[in-house]
Parts: sequence; structure tokens; C-alpha cells
Amino acid sequence: MHDDPFDDAEEIRSNIPSAAPKDGQAVMLRTTQWLDLGHDDPRMPPAFVIAFSVAAFTTSAFEQHGVPFPATLQKAVPKRQAEFLMGRLAARHAIEHLGVAAAAPGIGTSREPLWQTGVTGSITHTKDMAGAIAVDSSTVHGIGIDIENVVDADARRALEALAITAEERALLEARREHLSVDAILTIAFSAKESFFKGTFGTVGRYFDFSAARVTSLHVNSGRLTLTLEEDLAPALPKGRSFTVCFRMLTLDTVVTSFVW
Ligand SMILES: CC(C)(COP(=O)(O)OP(=O)(O)OC[C@H]1O[C@@H](n2cnc3c(N)ncnc32)[C@H](O)[C@@H]1OP(=O)(O)O)[C@@H](O)C(=O)NCCC(=O)NCCS
Repeated sequence: MHDDPFDDAEEIRSNIPSAAPKDGQAVMLRTTQWLDLGHDDPRMPPAFVIAFSVAAFTTSAFEQHGVPFPATLQKAVPKRQAEFLMGRLAARHAIEHLGVAAAAPGIGTSREPLWQTGVTGSITHTKDMAGAIAVDSSTVHGIGIDIENVVDADARRALEALAITAEERALLEARREHLSVDAILTIAFSAKESFFKGTFGTVGRYFDFSAARVTSLHVNSGRLTLTLEEDLAPALPKGRSFTVCFRMLTLDTVVTSFVW
């Protein structure tokens, strides 16, 4: 575990065209890096992570970066427009890392990213960070990534009502080591979201947080286990368990990831 993986990650600050400070516009992209997600599974690639500033965002950034500006987002708030753009930029870099010409993924009917032929991946964002992973689609069933800010008291109550049972919370609390209760609950929530993103293509429908239960946690190795509570698909039967990896990206930001 690293408190601040920005310290040891390769920083490639100027590898992507920065939003030129044109028309008084400040630079929106702050840093970019490749992040090792801590998997033993060689199929999991590093994530391309961008730190950005919404305050510096204007819609001209879509054109500057050559990313189509979806009609569905024309009236969205700047935060949503900026996070979408940053997620697509991260995805494009993750795809280029595979050595193929990359296009920004489209948008599916369930909001899932639509990847170009031969590629699959996953996108995530917070208010000031976006990340993406991409792989050759013939090598995996699916992959998922999720970055979350550690919950505060209000968000924690919502999260417990929505996503984590009392039984799961007891397990998490008992094995949280040096991590705060808020951090470990956020990790468990995020792990379920990574799992959802990585299996949505197989399941083909929305499924609830109760579909997978946290059954083990190892903080020092950054791993937790999710066990299915219901049949989601022939390859995802009740009782099957999966490992999700996690890291603290900053003191108050977690990243989880999943490949199968
Ligand atoms: C879809 C969901 C997982 C997104 O997670 P989030 O923390 O809200 O948001 P993030 O920023 O991390 O990720 C958003 C990205 O996820 C991707 N995404 C959205 N829907 C998706 C889907 N059905 N399948 C795969 N990826 C999806 C998109 O790329 C999206 O970004 P974009 O809209 O800018 O393209 C979440 O909103 C959700 O609906 N969760 C409920 C389902 C669930 O997690 N069940 C738990 C099963 S154990």
C-alpha cells in the first residue's frame, strides 16, 4: 500500500496536449500518470489517470482534444462535461498503450462505454480525477475500475443503506487494520462498482449491490473477495468468488479494480 502513489508513478505530464491557456483559459489538465493497480494477474494493465481542474474547463476543450461532444451532454453542468471529457481522454491513452489507433469510446444505452472492435476497458472519474484501463478484448471476460473519494458521515449513511450490509460492515471493521471505517466502507462500495463495470457486458442488465457480498479482506495486500449471492449469468453463478484489488490513491481517494 502507498499513501501517495503519485510519488512513485511515472509522470508523463506533457504527453497529452494540454488545454492551451487560450482566451484567458487556465490549464485544465494538471498531471497524468500510469498507475499500477497492484494485480498479480498479468492481464490487468496499468491505469491512465488524469488529475484535472473543473474550474478551468470550458466546452472548447472537447474540440481542442479531438473528442466528440455528445448531444446528450450539451446541457449538462460543467462538472459532468469535464469528467466525461477527461474519462474519454484517459480511455484514448489507455487504448493507445495497446499499440492500436484509438478513438474515444461511444456511449451505450445503459451508459456503458462502447469500445472499438478488439478492445474492452473501463472508465471512472471523481470531481478532479479520471482514470481508464483498456485491454485486448480477446484476453478477458471483462475489466472494471473505480475511483472514489472517501465518504464523509452523510455519504457513509447513504452507502450503508444502499450497498453494504451489517454483516459485511462487521467483517470490514474487524479486518480494516490501519484504515479508517470510512475508507474501508468506501473501498467495499467501490469494489462492487468495479465488479459491476467489469461484468455488465456479460450480465447485460443492471444488478443491485446485494448481488455480491464481501467475504474477505486483506488490507496489507490490497485485496478483497466478493462472492455472488445470486446467479447473474452462466459464467457468474451464485457462490463464485472474485478478487478485487484496491489502493489508496491519495489520503482520501481510493481506487479499486477487477479483471476476470
Ligand atoms: C454505473 C456505475 C457503476 C458508475 O459508477 P460511479 O461511481 O457512479 O461513477 P464512475 O465515475 O466511477 O464511473 C462512471 C463511468 O462508468 C461507466 N459506466 C456507466 N455505466 C456503465 C455500465 N453499465 N457498465 C460499465 N461501465 C459503465 C461510464 O464510462 C461512466 O462514465 P461516463 O458516463 O463519463 O462514460 C454506478 O453509477 C451504478 O449504477 N452502480 C449501481 C450498480 C452497481 O454498482 N451494482 C453493484 C453490483 S455488486
